[in-house]
Amino acid sequence: MRIGSIINGREINEGQRETEEVVNPFNQEVIAEIVLANESDLNEAVNGSFDVFHSTMKHMPAHQRSDILRKTADLLEDRKEEFAQTIMQEAGKPIVSSRAEVERSIQVLRFSSEWAKHIMGELIPMDAANGGENRLGMVKRRALGVVGAITPFNFPLNLSLHKIAPAIAAGNTVVFKPAEKTPATAYKLTKLFSEAGIPDGVLNLVIGTGSEVGSPLTKHEKLEKISFTGSLPVGKEISQSAGFKKVTLELGSNSPNIIFEDANVEQAVNKLVKGAFTYSGQICISAQRIYIQEDIFDDVVGQLVNMTEALVIGDPSDETTDLGPMISEEEAERAKQWIDDAVSKGAKILSGGKQKGTVLEPTVMADVQNDMKIIADEVFAPIVSVLPFKTEDEVVEMSNDSIYGLQAGVFTKDINRALRVADQLEMGGVWINEMSTFRRDNHPYGGVKQSGMGKEGVKYAVEDMTELKFIGVNLESE
Ligand code: SIN
Repeated sequence: MRIGSIINGREINEGQRETEEVVNPFNQEVIAEIVLANESDLNEAVNGSFDVFHSTMKHMPAHQRSDILRKTADLLEDRKEEFAQTIMQEAGKPIVSSRAEVERSIQVLRFSSEWAKHIMGELIPMDAANGGENRLGMVKRRALGVVGAITPFNFPLNLSLHKIAPAIAAGNTVVFKPAEKTPATAYKLTKLFSEAGIPDGVLNLVIGTGSEVGSPLTKHEKLEKISFTGSLPVGKEISQSAGFKKVTLELGSNSPNIIFEDANVEQAVNKLVKGAFTYSGQICISAQRIYIQEDIFDDVVGQLVNMTEALVIGDPSDETTDLGPMISEEEAERAKQWIDDAVSKGAKILSGGKQKGTVLEPTVMADVQNDMKIIADEVFAPIVSVLPFKTEDEVVEMSNDSIYGLQAGVFTKDINRALRVADQLEMGGVWINEMSTFRRDNHPYGGVKQSGMGKEGVKYAVEDMTELKFIGVNLESE
């Protein structure tokens, strides 16, 4: 399979362009060859999306945008196994999780199709202001123009749709730059939108490197907004180079999960083993720090280690596999070094810790300190740390002692305590009796502190993809 960018309806897969192989991270089989776009392709994509926004998209009625999104959802539903297999192969995501991602993606398209028809404005009570009598004030939401969507490898379908579908629902056009490791899913998705009837140029796919196309995209003057999911360092660069553009950044996290002594421990442990090791921990809200109240610490850790050791590690195409490869050998080695670094500073490995090629065993760490990378930074790997705590105040302080604040989990049967703690945690979202890793696609999602800015979750992303326009009428005019 040879994959190129799709710009204004035309596939760019020949000429003087560099190519790269896309490999299955589990068995290193080559699954596709990509043709990398250059800066001039990128300019063509942005200019095309800009022109089609002004000629077509900003006049397209809401019901038509809604229909395109619904048809894309229907097409994806028909081909869901094909998409799940593609995600499994190029991202190395176990097939059960790949299928779950496709199901969520269908919902994102359906929610976006519905929200396209519910973009509301409001009337302002102008006479509430002295001198505002006999004036009518209205606020409308209007589309922005060209939106740049820069997406990561870990949810190559769903996190792309969390940007593209709300952008189209709101009447924007999109230049879509997917992760280089997972271009096949992005290519198939772009084709699906075409089949559903989207006009050429409304969704332009640009496959290329960060330096050749990513960076010029974020600086491009014809872009009105950038929506990025990825690492903190890249997020910082984008926010510095974006200029006057609106920016949504979904960055990292070292999500805390707190188990109080009155919690349903079995339920908490079951959830947190999944929450730490699903897709080898390569999820922004993966459970990274588990705080356990000291009276139940040994018991909970014992259960956690037993369940971790029962996980099936292996081929992501196998239905019984819990944990497959990481995205690359480089990433697995980086994570292994972080474990070694913690051990050299006094941490203990309670389970796992070995790495071979792209596979890192699910690893449970204890005796950790806040200055170790496995606590302070985002591990984005199958590594979880257990930490004891005494009091509610102490655990809130420990959880908040971080540059990140995306999502957390709190396990307790005491609803008053749960709500008190949820209120005090410096996070974009807090789950009670649920793991931090749980996400559905219609609630607001996005962090505080250095976890990012702006919110996704279809309704909230649609709002972020529009701007308010005020129109006032002087009712006294003759
Ligand atoms: C992420 O890694 O930020 C996305 C998590 C999810 O959508 O479940």
